[in-house]
Amino acid sequence: MASSIPDLYREYKNRLHDVDLIEHELLETDNLDDWLERLNRKSDLIRKYYRQTEREINTLINPILYGEEPLDDETAKALYEGAYDYYQSVMCDDVMESQMFVRLWEYFAQKGDEYNERSCRCAFSNNAFLNVEGNLRKLAMEQAEWVAGYMDRIDHLRRIHDNDEDFLQDVQRVLGTLRSRYQMESSQFEPNIERMIECFNDLSKIRKYRHYFSDEAWEQIEKPLEDIGTDVLFMAVLHWNSLSDKLKETLGPTYPLGFIEQTKLPPHKRNMKVYVGYIVYAFYSGLLKPEQTFTLLRAYSHSIDKEYDFNNPNWYEQPADSRFSVITTTTKPMLEMIEAFNCDKMKKVRMKAELFYEIQTYIETIPRQCACKEYLDQALYHLLYDLISFIDEDDMAIEFIDCMIISRQMSTLIHTVMTAKLCEAVLKELIAKHPEMFLTVLGLEDPEEVADYEELLQKLMYNAARCHDIGKILIANIVNTQIRRLSDMEYSYIKFHPKWSYEILMRNRNLQTYAEIALGHHRSYDGKSGYPMYFNNKKSKFRILIDLLTICDCMDAATDVFGRNYTKGKTFDSVLAEFKKSAGTHYNPDIVAFILENDELRETLRSLTSEAGRADLYFHIYRRYR
Ligand SMILES: [Fe+2]
Ligand SMILES: [Fe+2]
Repeated sequence: MASSIPDLYREYKNRLHDVDLIEHELLETDNLDDWLERLNRKSDLIRKYYRQTEREINTLINPILYGEEPLDDETAKALYEGAYDYYQSVMCDDVMESQMFVRLWEYFAQKGDEYNERSCRCAFSNNAFLNVEGNLRKLAMEQAEWVAGYMDRIDHLRRIHDNDEDFLQDVQRVLGTLRSRYQMESSQFEPNIERMIECFNDLSKIRKYRHYFSDEAWEQIEKPLEDIGTDVLFMAVLHWNSLSDKLKETLGPTYPLGFIEQTKLPPHKRNMKVYVGYIVYAFYSGLLKPEQTFTLLRAYSHSIDKEYDFNNPNWYEQPADSRFSVITTTTKPMLEMIEAFNCDKMKKVRMKAELFYEIQTYIETIPRQCACKEYLDQALYHLLYDLISFIDEDDMAIEFIDCMIISRQMSTLIHTVMTAKLCEAVLKELIAKHPEMFLTVLGLEDPEEVADYEELLQKLMYNAARCHDIGKILIANIVNTQIRRLSDMEYSYIKFHPKWSYEILMRNRNLQTYAEIALGHHRSYDGKSGYPMYFNNKKSKFRILIDLLTICDCMDAATDVFGRNYTKGKTFDSVLAEFKKSAGTHYNPDIVAFILENDELRETLRSLTSEAGRADLYFHIYRRYR
């Protein structure tokens, strides 16, 4: 048990590490008994750590976080150091840390300690930017605006520091926050290039103050500035079609120069973004044909073999020309080129499939437990968002989705397979006994015709269940939090996942049918609760499938005996009793009654969700995807 704040932070990190180790052991055995023993050990450990951490957070952190206990200098220092150290080394659990930084900046502001106040605001913004939607992000943006003001006041920062080291550290923090603001702009699905240029201009104001910095210090400041300048051009060319003509005119002339310089260098010394950016620009300006563009990009991509160190939490220190970066950078333009090829459709399909196979093979090598978690969540979500629209067949699209989920969230993959199997079992019986329930989905008037469409309905339900939680990939880091209670803020992020699932699925022509079902899976049957509130499940033509998914989704989550987190699964019967209690409000009463009355079906579901049923499936998935 940790007895002080610094202890708690240290202990928490050790515990995360222990859980990671067991997860790793799980992947390494071929023997079912051995594997089960390890899985149980993991569940026990998670439960034990959860209780400990919960108690410590309640006694050491929360009273201060929620203002129940006054903060004094000594505690503020311990919290500041603990939270700061934690934030720099692990960069996860941002929400908990972000709230702490808010509390600390208020304290330092009251005391008139400008330096510490600013540093807490910067840490807060950096943390909060990593989160994808919601109030925290809005607040982070406001803070970044506030911090940006300091770019005009470097004179002031210089005056209040009596040594160079403090001054430089303070400036670096301010720059770091603005860099994060830029990063956030660039990580939008449809980034606003003009706003990115604005951020770059804000950052560039520092050039006015060159005289305050030694050559060495300036080097550290200038390099990221140049990188961002390159990045702006690169992002502009990737979104060339959506730029205004005026912007195209301004940015266009900057490319050829960079290309000539770059082509003289061997591949490993080329700046990836300048090189790729120019090639794509050359295509858009009519200098290269799609085939030529593709060949150049592919040759370049194959020439890069530097490894990305996924165990370094500071992803921004990573080499820009790593295999991971080249995949996230060149795949989308390559796929665009294939689509623009002047050749028959089958050849395009084949070429795309080859490219996807290569990417999947690479993604499977990413260690499941690694340090740069948030970055990876965002990078993979973007990759998925960008690439999924190019996949022609839905089986392949689902395979790609699986591959993405496995890289960060084995538990979600297991959950979606379980949910799909439960849906399949109930649906089969429902179609046989109550075909009239499916008339709306199929647009039919005669119940007798429904049986003819059984295969289609099964496929629709099964695939929708397999994809329903894909949005969670963006917040795998929060979903994977196992040894402490999630904060309210973290729950509010989780509530966005049906919307993110919807957005991903809508990107692919074949997956669009599943999008609405995924969007509705957390709405209540009566439409009065659940999320997202804007979606009217009562009006959806897929309503019956949404209702079925909602039931099976809960059935799996609630009975999970191995525990996706600290909770031990409930018994199948108690879950059925809960369904009965909330039938008509939360759950579709007809489906609930149907399950309760149908003994054979009930036994199938009981067996699927039992410990033995799960052990088999989990083991199989672990073995398949390790
Ligand atoms: Fe969900
Ligand atoms: Fe789910």
